[in-house]
Amino acid sequence: MEETVGSNFYEDAQVLLESVLKELLLRIDLLRRYEVLSGRNDPVEHCKGRIKTERSMIDKLQRKGLPVTLEAALEEVHDAVGVRVVCQFVDDVYQMADIIRRQEDIKVIKEKDFIKNPKPNGYRSYHMIVKIPVHLPDCTRELFAEIQLRTIAMDCWAALEHELKYKQEIPNQELLQKELKRCSDEMASTDLTMQTIRQMIAGADSK
Ligand code: GTP
Ligand code: MG
Repeated sequence: MEETVGSNFYEDAQVLLESVLKELLLRIDLLRRYEVLSGRNDPVEHCKGRIKTERSMIDKLQRKGLPVTLEAALEEVHDAVGVRVVCQFVDDVYQMADIIRRQEDIKVIKEKDFIKNPKPNGYRSYHMIVKIPVHLPDCTRELFAEIQLRTIAMDCWAALEHELKYKQEIPNQELLQKELKRCSDEMASTDLTMQTIRQMIAGADSK
């Protein structure tokens, strides 16, 4: 029974969510090409997106004590559509965030800088909650989307941490968390070194 409730939860909004996802991915692709055409580096290594599964949307609504309705899913939860932009260098993350902020039709609602202020567990990323217009035959609707921007190193860490989070049966969780945090700090330090190396190469190139 639960499954049938979950299997058509988005109803007609599924089309809107897909449209927002496609729009965002297409836009980011265009912006990358434009950067390259303008003689700058492509700031993005790769980019991917997803629509939150109906099951995990329902779980999230329940977890947050929100009504399990389509309206709450679209208005109170902001990551029904999620896009992850993975960059080579930390500078590129901020460059991309800047470019997105300058898009006239993309409204930035909220930004969280977990690079300058990492989470206590070591999670690093730059998060933007945006609103994107979807043009329908007789009206325009705006939908929320979450954009996560991070470096390859931050993405690697987050993927492994996510995997380990669900392996609670592993003993010595405390040590594991400490080690994960240490990895995150080491990777952040490597990111900074890589950034410096790039600047050195760019400096040598322009001589
Ligand atoms: P939710 O976490 O989505 O309920 O909302 P929030 O307002 O707390 O958002 P936050 O910006 O903290 O996190 C949003 C998303 O970022 C999550 O859904 C994850 O995809 C990612 N994220 C946040 N914290 C972590 C973390 O500690 N580890 C990993 N792997 N991902 C994280
Ligand atoms: Mg969270």
